[in-house]
Amino acid sequence: MIYIISGTDRQGSKSLIVANQLLKFYNLNNASAEIIDLKNLSLNKLHGLSYNQDSIPEDLKIVFKKIAKAKALHIVCPEYNGSYPGILKFFIDYWKFPDSFDGKFVSFVGLGGRFAGLRPVEHLMQVFSYRNAILFPQRVFLDNVWDMIKDETLTDKTILDRLQKQVEDFCKFINLK
Ligand SMILES: Cc1cc2nc3c(=O)[nH]c(=O)nc-3n(C[C@H](O)[C@H](O)[C@H](O)COP(=O)(O)O)c2cc1C
Repeated sequence: MIYIISGTDRQGSKSLIVANQLLKFYNLNNASAEIIDLKNLSLNKLHGLSYNQDSIPEDLKIVFKKIAKAKALHIVCPEYNGSYPGILKFFIDYWKFPDSFDGKFVSFVGLGGRFAGLRPVEHLMQVFSYRNAILFPQRVFLDNVWDMIKDETLTDKTILDRLQKQVEDFCKFINLK
């Protein structure tokens, strides 16, 4: 299973729109994929005592198990203040170690303003590289993302093509095709 992680809990998130588009491309490739939307998780119930995993809310236990067992992750990451959103790091820091990272295939999409989410993706890549994940080098970046989405749909043809190719090539990279 490939989990597409929409990297923010912001209401009305554009990352989620991009994540949904990726899901469509995975379906076209007959690859099993599912979106993890941070907005739907009870991350606000986590606290310092939760690192021992006992007092973690049930929905998060389920999602952490899924991530630990996943073959691959596809992270859609917006730029917040020159990096990736704090909520995403908060989420990642509770993942089961090392199962969630070691040898995990990870693909990245960045989105933001002028710099197109390059910074958050590079920061994330450092984290996953440090944790021995296998990073897919073919990244996709959406600059001035607000111009690429109309009526909750990604309309930019170039970016759609790039995302489609990224999904196809990632499936090959992880030996699904
Ligand atoms: C808290 C916050 C901080 C942001 N900081 C940056 C930034 O540093 N650089 C940038 O290019 N865009 C920045 N943006 C714009 C977002 O990258 C852009 O609106 C993107 O759509 C946000 O993703 P989302 O819609 O999934 O939340 C910021 C947006 C928010 C909400």
